[in-house]
Amino acid sequence: MTFPFARISELGRHAGQTVTVRGWVTHLRSSGKVAFVVMRDGSGQLQGVVVKNAVAPETWETFGQLTHEASLAVTGEVRADARAPGGYELGISAITLVGASPLDYPIQPKEHGVDFLLDRRHFWLRSPRQVAILRIRHEVEQAIHDFFYERDFVRADTPILTAAIGERAGLFSTEYFDEGTAYLAQTGQLYGEALAASLGRIYTFGPTFRAEKSKTRRHLTEFWMIEPEMAWYDQTDNMDLQEEFVRFLVQRVLERRQDELKVLERDTSKLACVMEPFVRLDYGDAVKLCQSKGSDIQWGEDLGAPDEALIVAEYERPVFVMNYPKEAKAFYMKENPADPRTVLCADLLAPEGRGEIIGGSQREDDHDKLLHRLREEGLPEEAYDWYLDLRRYGTFVHSGFGLGLERTVAWIAGVEHIREVIPFPRLMDRLRP
Ligand code: 4AD
Ligand code: MG
Repeated sequence: MTFPFARISELGRHAGQTVTVRGWVTHLRSSGKVAFVVMRDGSGQLQGVVVKNAVAPETWETFGQLTHEASLAVTGEVRADARAPGGYELGISAITLVGASPLDYPIQPKEHGVDFLLDRRHFWLRSPRQVAILRIRHEVEQAIHDFFYERDFVRADTPILTAAIGERAGLFSTEYFDEGTAYLAQTGQLYGEALAASLGRIYTFGPTFRAEKSKTRRHLTEFWMIEPEMAWYDQTDNMDLQEEFVRFLVQRVLERRQDELKVLERDTSKLACVMEPFVRLDYGDAVKLCQSKGSDIQWGEDLGAPDEALIVAEYERPVFVMNYPKEAKAFYMKENPADPRTVLCADLLAPEGRGEIIGGSQREDDHDKLLHRLREEGLPEEAYDWYLDLRRYGTFVHSGFGLGLERTVAWIAGVEHIREVIPFPRLMDRLRP
């Protein structure tokens, strides 16, 4: 006889019926007369019970062959049981061992070092903690699309192979036929600006690459960035949108991912601060604040991670640091009319010492000023010809920002190191698996 297949998360619909569930063994226990198997299928966890006297001898024998992480199909009656994980238990009548798993399965129920686990990332991803993290990441991704869709932003994809360098970070390059060197995109922004003149409000959602030689808990060499770009938005409009956006993402995870947050033991009370207005702090005041707390940062320098931590500790909620000195930031940011030493930009610092999760700015819309900045930075003018065209033909006030997906997910989920919030992290010393 065959029975319908069911995923563990759907068992509620099959109470009292006999179904077949397929998945992997996470836990085994036997008293000699009654045996239990806990299994997972990606949608949830299920406990199955086998009673020796109630099943065929082959079924009892097959149970004896099960091992940790073996794949299997079990058939049985779905019974409501308030004590069981997920609220249901399976009274097993038949077991098929699909794929054996030798006893040397590398990840054992004990502490492993992080390098050991990263080398076995393909297995580590099966653990409840990793599953919870990836489900939260997925929720954030979906929330991002929902946020922009509801506001009539168009998602527009930008190239990964480029000739125009966007940021000051390290570059990955490759030979590109007769065209010379191609770079892996550090940002989609410059193309996003062209698209904003076409569609008005757009966002990109894609991988970006930076040859970062920093081994920190917030740097990856390949990470995902969301870059909205809006025609007719100035610096204030831009920050208002970011605030609404970040609040939306946090609320969505709190609404829909409580189970996963519990697995991660996230203290969600710490996220309540996003409901208050975010702090908007001028760069000059930020420097003074850091100095008063013992930092030796000088006006003109970019804020380091320790300075960011000092600033956020002061307010315990998200902080925009605005209007940095020109020399600390990228060439495309608009000169601040109120203080031409600075540019109209803002970095958003997340609470709990997480540092910058968004970098954004109003863009330089004056052709000559932009050209001057390109030259100052020693960037190859010919690669930016098309970008300058946007200022030659119908220039427009516009602004945008880039949200780092992994840093945002790590903060919301309360995960210390961003290598855990991307399925297969790429770090300076890690290209496999
Ligand atoms: O501040 P960044 O460099 O800004 C840009 O790339 C702009 N083009 C964005 C824009 O205005 N459209 O990077 C934006 C965000 C950072 O705030 C951070 O969250 C993330 O990208 N980020 C990284 N995340 C992980 N690993 C790295 N190496 C990162 N570098 C930046
Ligand atoms: Mg930045």
